[in-house]
Amino acid sequence: MNATLPTAEALRAALADLLDGLPPKQAAQAVERLIASYRGTTPTDAPVLRDRSDVAAYAAYRMPATFEAVRSCLAALREAAPDWTPATHTDVGGGTGAASWAVAGAWEGPRTTVLDWAEPALALGRELAAASGSPGLRAAAWERARIGKELELAPTDLVTVSYVLKELRPEDRGALVDAAAAAGQAVVIVEPGTPDGYERVIEARDRLIAAGLSVAAPCPHDGACPIERGKDWCHFSARVSRSSLHRQVKGGSLSHEDEKFSYVVATRFPVLPAAARVVRRPQIRKGQVLLELCTRDDGLERATVTKRHGELYRAARDIAWGDAWPPGQS
Ligand SMILES: C[S@@+](CC[C@H](N)C(=O)[O-])C[C@H]1O[C@@H](n2cnc3c(N)ncnc32)[C@H](O)[C@@H]1O
Repeated sequence: MNATLPTAEALRAALADLLDGLPPKQAAQAVERLIASYRGTTPTDAPVLRDRSDVAAYAAYRMPATFEAVRSCLAALREAAPDWTPATHTDVGGGTGAASWAVAGAWEGPRTTVLDWAEPALALGRELAAASGSPGLRAAAWERARIGKELELAPTDLVTVSYVLKELRPEDRGALVDAAAAAGQAVVIVEPGTPDGYERVIEARDRLIAAGLSVAAPCPHDGACPIERGKDWCHFSARVSRSSLHRQVKGGSLSHEDEKFSYVVATRFPVLPAAARVVRRPQIRKGQVLLELCTRDDGLERATVTKRHGELYRAARDIAWGDAWPPGQS
């Protein structure tokens, strides 16, 4: 990959510099306040990210995780559409730019516009982007916009909506997904990997399909989700290195944590969705690997891949939750 494409390490370094100016205790307190307000009665009528210390705390605490989640979704899109490269990108509710960092890391050169109603988030996002070393990210436009029925999105190749639907009223969620579907050639929607995050993703998926888009990932088809509602939820996991701020707020000494997320990627252009996707962490036993799959033709399935399967068994030992199965076959 090109050295100018921003990485998780570059993001971590930019965030560490940012926090240098913020006393650790103040940063930890700001994170705790944010966690409490995110647990409270969202959606709100005004931005939760009110000032620079809120935004710095949000960025340091959450950005590495939302960046990794979006990165996984973009990897699935790239796998389904290996020849497609976006020239323009709109990051709606982009905040400090986690999804834009992920997009700039996936393709060279898309022109990004970040939209958000929280001016302090945009200002800090611009600062972080300036430190990224990525020409694409440094050239991004950071614009104030309120998501709602009046939101109009200019035509763009790629739209990202990362960890935003949860903050909106149901009617604004629908309006945003419709606007994204009308504006974008590809739309990536990511939510926390919780039962309600999954519900919002499924609602968005239905709207994207109704608007004429096709699902590129994670689903192997555009049909109904085979998961029985209320019994389970489709979600995935991305590994994130913990920062010292994380350790301070959450305690413990683990060097990483797993960010759980639900997502859908849909496109207006033809794609090759996976034949099946691994929807649980694979279980590796002696001489066999147990896979839980969502398949194109047979819904949810369990597969046992044993040594007798030769090449496939070796592939199964390397496969991860969220990967397409079998590898390299769409
Ligand atoms: C949880 S943050 C996610 C930020 C970023 N997309 C990410 O993945 O890290 C949600 C963002 O949505 C923005 N937001 C929430 N409601 C909004 C609205 N009605 N109009 C514009 N932006 C909104 C917030 O200001 C915040 O930056």
